Amino acid sequence: MTTYDHLLHLSRAGATLLHIASYEWERVRGHVIGLSNAMELPLRVWSQSTGLLACTEDGETRVEDDAAIDPLEILRQIHSSDEPGVWLLEDFQPFLREEHHPLLRWLRELARMPTSPRKLVVLSTPLPGLPMDLRKEIPTIELDLPGVDDLRVVLHDAASALGVRASDDEALLDAARGLTVMEARLAFGKAAAELGRLDLGAVPLVAREKERIIKQSEVLEYYPTDARMTDVGGLDQLKVWLDRRGRAFGAGARDFGLDAPKGVLLLGVQGCGKSLLAKAVAATWQFPLLRFDLGKVFGGIVGQSEGNIRTALQVAQALAPCVLWIDEIEKGLAGMGSSDQTDGGTTARVVGTLLTWMQEKRDPVFVVATANRIDMLPPELLRKGRFDEIFFVDLPTREVREEILSIHIGKKRRDPKDYDLADLVERSVGFSGAELEEAVREGLYDAFAEGRELSTEHIAHALDKTFPLSRTMREQIEGLRQWAKVRARLASGQAPEPLPQDSAETAAPRLRQEATRNPFIPGGRS
Ligand SMILES: Nc1ncnc2c1ncn2[C@@H]1O[C@H](COP(=O)(O)OP(=O)(O)O)[C@@H](O)[C@H]1O
Ligand SMILES: [Mg+2]
Repeated sequence: MTTYDHLLHLSRAGATLLHIASYEWERVRGHVIGLSNAMELPLRVWSQSTGLLACTEDGETRVEDDAAIDPLEILRQIHSSDEPGVWLLEDFQPFLREEHHPLLRWLRELARMPTSPRKLVVLSTPLPGLPMDLRKEIPTIELDLPGVDDLRVVLHDAASALGVRASDDEALLDAARGLTVMEARLAFGKAAAELGRLDLGAVPLVAREKERIIKQSEVLEYYPTDARMTDVGGLDQLKVWLDRRGRAFGAGARDFGLDAPKGVLLLGVQGCGKSLLAKAVAATWQFPLLRFDLGKVFGGIVGQSEGNIRTALQVAQALAPCVLWIDEIEKGLAGMGSSDQTDGGTTARVVGTLLTWMQEKRDPVFVVATANRIDMLPPELLRKGRFDEIFFVDLPTREVREEILSIHIGKKRRDPKDYDLADLVERSVGFSGAELEEAVREGLYDAFAEGRELSTEHIAHALDKTFPLSRTMREQIEGLRQWAKVRARLASGQAPEPLPQDSAETAAPRLRQEATRNPFIPGGRS
């Protein structure tokens, strides 16, 4: 359902007060003009700076009362008016704070007005987020980002404003998807100024501008990658599954009755290729990879978190098909669970927004979330229907270690056949992929320092010196394995190897494990 359909639907259902959240006040006003035309009611637009304006069907405005700048007064006036009509109250954000108690009270009165005479009030604010006591009574509608048709209008506007030629190339409009009208206008304008025309040649310029704008969002980041599936050792079952899902995005899948896949949660031991796989998926499917920093959603001004996440999800949706990569999701959710109270439920609401969106989205946005820990994940995230599947990524088995060593030796432009991989595999029980990669790199340094070619011994020596994380994290890994047995699919078809038993003397100090624990979580969770 488009925003406009949604608005129409709610007003037909008899709503008397609605809230639209968007920076794009022009488009909001356009929607409300459409709404008042459809309802055959006169429209008035109010803001504190302009007072009351009468607005025609075509959007022309005329001052009706420029002295009417008191927000409380205007609410009272609307409430007591015997005339039917639509009122759009623009930039109402500053008056929606808890301390404006009488104002909030009047809004609640408006939400309960009788439907005759037919009066509809629309509040417009740049950001979502109503005070608590209004949330239940006033539906908030978010404007979707402009579609291709809106962008075409912007393109031609920009071209005629700058006196350049514009061609309607889909690729150019596609390049601007994910931008607001204002941002698109700016991107087209810059490209026109640089090129003197707006055609296919402007695509890279607009794409670059979009990249810049998305960077500013801080929460989302374009992550160019050329990782391939063959760079990832092991995880055979997961790869097969992904291959099948990838096909469901292809032509014909929808007609066949397949829904676009939602996404996958990769849980497991650190350094075993989860992040690498997220990159490889995007590159293999040739989808843009958007890295979503959930932690940054919570930064900044109170009340902005929900706005942040919604904006990010909207952008992802506009860029579909794409991969939305939420790396180490548990870190972003550190406030959840027992400390729900400490942030006024913001974390819970942000997670709720994410989950609802995942459940309802129809656009091909494939979410790849990774997590190294389970104890910090909210249970609702793990519930069926959110992700298509939860995979457990374990430490590499013998065979897979051989594959990973080959991959990384190969990346150093050496032939793996020249190395005694069987020996290296034997020495590296309990090593993660990242640790194997590190041993190859370390061996290369040593070989270079000695002025010799890299040999098996160099890598073996590096492995022997390494204290793998699985030794200090034995219990956690066992715990993860137990947990995953019943709740997740195994990414690898092979049974995990038992971890080597450490005697108390050789056991490493527990420092690294302690360091990963956050001592500041209220309630003393560990
Ligand atoms: N299965 C694997 N195959 C090849 N390389 C791996 C594998 N697992 C880890 N690595 C290497 O270690 C690096 C870090 O792994 P990463 O994907 O970030 O692990 P995780 O996200 O599971 O903590 C990778 O970029 C890659 O070079
Ligand atoms: Mg990772």
